[in-house]
Amino acid sequence: MYPPVHVADIAQHEGKEITLHGWLHNRRSSGKLHFLQLRDGTGTIQCVVFKGNVTPEVFQASDHLPQETSLTVTGLVKKDERSPIGFELDVRDLQVVSRPAQEFPIGHKEHGVAFLMEQRHLWLRSQRQQVILRVRHTVEKAIRDFFDQRGFTLVDAPIFTPSACEGTSTLFEVPYFDLGKAYLTQSGQLYMEAAAMALGKVYCFGPTFRAEKSKTRRHLTEFWMVEPEVAYMDLDGDMELMEQFVSYVVQTALEKHRVELATVLERDVSKLENVKAPFPRITYTEAVEVIQKAGHPMKWGDDIGGDEETVVARQFDRPVMVHRYPAEMKAFYFKKDPADPKVALGCDVLAPEGYGEIIGGGQREDDLATLEAAIDHHQLPKQAFEWYLDLRRYGTVPHAGFGMGVERCVAWICGLHHVRETIPFARMMERITP
Ligand code: 4AD
Ligand code: MG
Repeated sequence: MYPPVHVADIAQHEGKEITLHGWLHNRRSSGKLHFLQLRDGTGTIQCVVFKGNVTPEVFQASDHLPQETSLTVTGLVKKDERSPIGFELDVRDLQVVSRPAQEFPIGHKEHGVAFLMEQRHLWLRSQRQQVILRVRHTVEKAIRDFFDQRGFTLVDAPIFTPSACEGTSTLFEVPYFDLGKAYLTQSGQLYMEAAAMALGKVYCFGPTFRAEKSKTRRHLTEFWMVEPEVAYMDLDGDMELMEQFVSYVVQTALEKHRVELATVLERDVSKLENVKAPFPRITYTEAVEVIQKAGHPMKWGDDIGGDEETVVARQFDRPVMVHRYPAEMKAFYFKKDPADPKVALGCDVLAPEGYGEIIGGGQREDDLATLEAAIDHHQLPKQAFEWYLDLRRYGTVPHAGFGMGVERCVAWICGLHHVRETIPFARMMERITP
């Protein structure tokens, strides 16, 4: 069985009798008429049950069906000016597929987020969550399209890894047969560097894991990251790629979902219109001055935290690119700026409106001896990185890349307070169900 007609295609069937398959979202009655809101995943349509048009059994049943009853409804498609979709269904017959034995836990009143997260498997049926998941889908497709159109090859990175990429404090350890232990990947970057030396322009796109002990609105323990990597590209090229990429993703999502974003999510979409390259660029050093001037106690060398990011981002009407952070606070693989070795050739993209860092990336250290020294300096097990060092032993070239977290990007586009609503089933420090 494949449902032959969906609500989204209803206009093609005006004046005809069709059958829809869905769930009862809501209903109301006025004597001789029952109004059923039928949801089928592609949209919601009002189905009007008139006493004179159906059997007494159907009329009687449609006044008592509970929310989330699964239904098959047959009727005539009629134009209706008042309907948000322009049509309603004049019901001739109705069959109950399954009637819930209990009341649906998520009614039409307000519920707290803790309760809704516990009911996530059912919460997904709400209009708001459907819109968010569709925007996520569009963002993921736009990500793929952007790189595919530019001749990148998608290369899947492993999930089990032998070593850390982004610092040892956020590693998830798993037992791994006779080899002892493995870690869930924090980033596919190191593997993309290998792939870039083979294929030139590559990207990976998959789940990544961090044992984040912070309960913030931006952190998940499992999140999806896209990571392009390009041979013979320097930091400037990387920053151009970042701004082109973010503009494309945001404008694609805006074009496709403008109405849903504005109505269902109450997003001020005018804020997204400006998200077009080129983006403003400032150095970390300049960012520190901006933060200090705003009265935040911060000195050169400190990390730019969430609040400080907001101070910097507030200066601009589009994302800002902060580059050349102190090398000391960055991962081992960053190349240092030859003009000032205190800073790394890295760049973060900070989204406006308080959304903060959505992208981190930069140029990689391509010199063998310097990279070996960095691995020592970070007290990383050199043995585990021998394969990575081979990339510098055999035809090393300048190269760069970046990573964007899908959830932070979707939270910003949708204007959501917390990333937990942007992923179908969020994993956080305090949550692993449903
Ligand atoms: O800045 P990060 O740690 O960079 C890397 O992992 C590099 N290896 C990427 C690369 O150059 N190939 O993470 C990149 C992005 C962040 O900007 C953020 O969007 C997201 O990944 N991110 C998280 N999103 C949700 N929850 C978390 N715990 C995240 N940690 C990072
Ligand atoms: Mg980062």
